[in-house]
Amino acid sequence: MEKNGLIPINKPTVPDLKCILEEYQEVFDNGMLTNHKYVGMFEERLKEYLGVRNVVCVSCCTSGLMLVAKCLGLTGEVIVPSFTFPATVHSLIWNNLTPVFIDCNPETFNLDVDEIEKKITKRTSAILGVYIFGNPPEMDKLENLVHKHQINLIFDSAHALGSQFKGKFAGNFGDAEVFSLAPTKIITSGEGGIVTTNNDDLAKKLKLARNYGNPGNYDCCLLGLNARMNELSAIMGLKSMDLLEDSIARRHNLVNLYKTELGKIEGINFQRIRKGNRSTFNYFSILIDSEKFGMDNKELHLALEKKGIMTRVYFYPPVHRQKVYKKYYYRYKNSLSWTDKIADSILCLPLYSDMGEERVLRVCEAIKDSP
Ligand SMILES: Cc1ncc(COP(=O)(O)O)c(C=O)c1O
Repeated sequence: MEKNGLIPINKPTVPDLKCILEEYQEVFDNGMLTNHKYVGMFEERLKEYLGVRNVVCVSCCTSGLMLVAKCLGLTGEVIVPSFTFPATVHSLIWNNLTPVFIDCNPETFNLDVDEIEKKITKRTSAILGVYIFGNPPEMDKLENLVHKHQINLIFDSAHALGSQFKGKFAGNFGDAEVFSLAPTKIITSGEGGIVTTNNDDLAKKLKLARNYGNPGNYDCCLLGLNARMNELSAIMGLKSMDLLEDSIARRHNLVNLYKTELGKIEGINFQRIRKGNRSTFNYFSILIDSEKFGMDNKELHLALEKKGIMTRVYFYPPVHRQKVYKKYYYRYKNSLSWTDKIADSILCLPLYSDMGEERVLRVCEAIKDSP
């Protein structure tokens, strides 16, 4: 039971502390606190799970995205959705790249692939796609596009550890994908990120880049960061791998229950996951048609909060509406209408791996009683 009967929106999925501490004692004893044995073991485990050639663990998804853009040598403009978390786009700005915002698909909330070609110019060097809430984008269309225009394709896969596109694990698409292991993610290492790539040269560069670009003699050969993962995070990540598939299965059951209960209410719709794909459901969102439902997303958020149920209007504001992005949006005013509409009608409901079904039912009852 959560404190005071409150239902949080999210709760980290964590392994047994005792087994983490046993391994960490060894790390303490040998003094190798960062980027060492357990990071290597975690990378091996992830390679095996995802079926990808290279895994490079980093300090977080944001640093991973920054380093991927740097190591691929991206230039000019990068096509990116605005309906995403700000760090997706921040990673481009930190590399002096210009984000070219693309609208989202109103059903899947992922970038609208059919709109991309209109925005490709001579200056475009890449597309940065995002698995919104764990939902895989249209990989086949994206791969055809980048092949045709000879540009790079990378993914912010922060929500997608365990997602699958047509049976293939996220982590195997484009030039590289970057996952997050922050506490709100499907599994966590406290903080952390995972870069996957089937490009061996890129993986080599990333391994240098996460350590300042230092090949070992401090004669740095590229401009890196300190983006190392520490051993405690790696141990937590490794142990959490045992929880991952079960977490996804539990979330699927809870989402099915939500859909059964809320599907009966007029004015509530769900994110579309295309047939044959698997989402992690890192978040479960509903779209509210305020006229049919009787209140809008922000009003429902407040009504549920009064009943001890935490929800989040998310992603809001969309990136192009955020203060820091004003200067990058001037060229595309009024062309992100779906992004604005989705951001104005979305609400993420409580979902975490060990959430009980009775809690889902309590949330559904509270929603039914709200307008
Ligand atoms: C889509 C997306 N990208 C990137 C990030 C940033 O991840 P990190 O905190 O690991 O840098 C988040 C964090 O929530 C996210 O939701």
